[in-house]
Amino acid sequence: MKTAISFVALTAALSFSATVPPIKQLPFGEVDGKPISIYLLKNAAGMEVTITNYGGAVTSIKVPDRNKALGNVVLGFDSVAPYQTTTSYFGALIGRYGNRIGKAEFQLEGKVYHIPANENGNALHGGTTGFNKRIWDAKDVSTAKAPALEMHYLSPDGEMGFPGNLDVTVRYTLDAKNGLEIDYSATTDKATVLNLTNHTYFNLAGAGNDTVLKHRLTIRADHYTPVDGALLPTGVVQAVEGTPFDFRHGNVIGSRINEDNEQLKLGKGYDHNFVLNEPHTLKQWAVRVEERSTGRVMEVFTDQPAVQFYTGNFLDGTAHGVGGDFKFRSAICLETQHYPDSPNHPNFPSTELRPGEKYHTVTIYRFSTEE
Ligand code: BGC
Repeated sequence: MKTAISFVALTAALSFSATVPPIKQLPFGEVDGKPISIYLLKNAAGMEVTITNYGGAVTSIKVPDRNKALGNVVLGFDSVAPYQTTTSYFGALIGRYGNRIGKAEFQLEGKVYHIPANENGNALHGGTTGFNKRIWDAKDVSTAKAPALEMHYLSPDGEMGFPGNLDVTVRYTLDAKNGLEIDYSATTDKATVLNLTNHTYFNLAGAGNDTVLKHRLTIRADHYTPVDGALLPTGVVQAVEGTPFDFRHGNVIGSRINEDNEQLKLGKGYDHNFVLNEPHTLKQWAVRVEERSTGRVMEVFTDQPAVQFYTGNFLDGTAHGVGGDFKFRSAICLETQHYPDSPNHPNFPSTELRPGEKYHTVTIYRFSTEE
């Protein structure tokens, strides 16, 4: 009898710990007369993520440090207004084309397509009004095990010059092992190009801390794509060996960032596309970041062929958000993606999507601590 009672108690305790609190929806402001919300996802381990349906942006991620103290590790704001005016893409979903398209144009099936240029005559992150400035439909698709929020956006044929009605769904899931999974899918009714990503800025010491230069970074990439003066890829795929771009065995980010290196000067630091070694699977991490003072670790898993590693070189302290001023190099972005400007480089993996095909890709940012 005694055993039976403790068995019942144990199953009750287990099912309780596996149940996640429902997603909370809170007001975040208004855009064009439409109410914008923020959604709070919590897992049983205590990790918390907030996401807004404006730009589908991740606005905060709270994870424990080695002493179990929760801290926010991403740059964000506490209302929608700053997201409308910023040009830094804080936390946002990026589309239709992550990073740059040279001369803001590309050819597909013999036709030339023009995107409204928003940087030196080139298109950055989808043109003048990218997915980061769109209102997404948000739906709670949580299961008993994991809170999940699904974002949907229908980008009409010709929006920002891109062909095809593009139906995009992005699902954010917070798993039980402190992983934030981003699952992107899309279909089109005309041949098009597509490169979706997320532009969250991380500082594992806590948002608002001065720099990320002491973070230690490992990237499983033997190659990267060097850039020209406009930060467009030159088309060359270069070995990292013997350069400040060699993060294969783990390096402190600041250890070589100020070296007299042409590529670092062009990027004002790291702002480069790293070509991830194959296989591109979710079975092993592609990037690992460690922050010694808090013991926080972030591992990035992705099925994408590349990652843009950006050290916040264009942040200048003028944006003031949760945690303080967002200063020069006070965060890193790890934008899992296809190579920049692929539509104009036939030697890069293709970013074309055709009717009848399904675009599907997954990236997970997983947090843990070490002593
Ligand atoms: C780019 C940077 C750009 C930044 C905008 C990054 O993905 O690589 O060059 O300045 O986005 O915030």
